[in-house]
Amino acid sequence: MANTALITGASSGIGRELARYHASKGGDLIITARRATELDALKSELESNHGITVTTIPLDLGTTDGAAKLYAAVNATGQSVDILINNAAFGGHGIFTERELSADLAMINLNVCALVALCHMIGSDMVANGSGRILNVSSTAAHLAGPLQATYFATKAFVSSFSQAIDGELRDKGVTVTALEPGYVATEFAAVADLEGTDLVSGKAASPASVAKCGYDAMMDGKLTVINDRKLAFQLNWIMPFLPRRMKLNFVRKMQEKAT
Ligand SMILES: NC(=O)c1ccc[n+]([C@@H]2O[C@H](COP(=O)([O-])OP(=O)(O)OC[C@H]3O[C@@H](n4cnc5c(N)ncnc54)[C@H](OP(=O)(O)O)[C@@H]3O)[C@@H](O)[C@H]2O)c1
Repeated sequence: MANTALITGASSGIGRELARYHASKGGDLIITARRATELDALKSELESNHGITVTTIPLDLGTTDGAAKLYAAVNATGQSVDILINNAAFGGHGIFTERELSADLAMINLNVCALVALCHMIGSDMVANGSGRILNVSSTAAHLAGPLQATYFATKAFVSSFSQAIDGELRDKGVTVTALEPGYVATEFAAVADLEGTDLVSGKAASPASVAKCGYDAMMDGKLTVINDRKLAFQLNWIMPFLPRRMKLNFVRKMQEKAT
């Protein structure tokens, strides 16, 4: 039986580990990101280690028509997508009004608009086929408002809310949607988001491989949401909701401040 996964942001970090994990289970892959060299290296590695087929589609998913271009390129391969993993995203540190507006709008385009478009286009095909699994990579940031990363935290709140809502619409049509909400993970994310030197990234980091396995397994089990770390899950689900909002804003701001 065909078992093809489309994974965005597969050139590094959690996305690359999701591709490795899916390949280890014998599934074919369509992988995408901007860096073609990294995608080609992953294709060679996975095809020789697992005897599967990997298609690479290097493109910028953050442009207005990025998702439509990806969908057209996937269709041109003649493959249908059994698993959609929306993983590509980036963050950005700083006071909102002091950041370039264009950077935050680009973040919304990738983290939110492209994800929504792919869920719509590929989700519609899955509904027509009567089956499919979608994993949307969100973040623990979905549970909190995030001073010094205001737009990023808000994009992840969107991803978790949207994922659960469409699961509620699609589950009885054979399509499940899971939101993976990791805490801090050791990837290129912190450098890209300019978070180095903050308390957020000086603490314990999960490995991208462990987070990928956690999210993939939860998706296959049809779970609604999953947090990779039990202690963090307890704090976010059972302590944070009862704390005063201002206290939480101060806590998150402090975590993301840089020593001057
Ligand atoms: N690391 C963490 O602490 C953490 C915590 C919670 C949630 N997350 C989430 O985990 C997911 C993966 O992040 P990561 O930690 O693995 O970070 P990462 O190593 O920086 O990976 C991000 C991926 O997104 C791709 N990407 C970025 N901009 C793109 C664009 N315009 N078009 C196409 N692809 C683009 C990158 O590839 P190219 O540069 O080659 O395009 C890369 O493959 C994200 O959704 C992130 O929000 C991360």
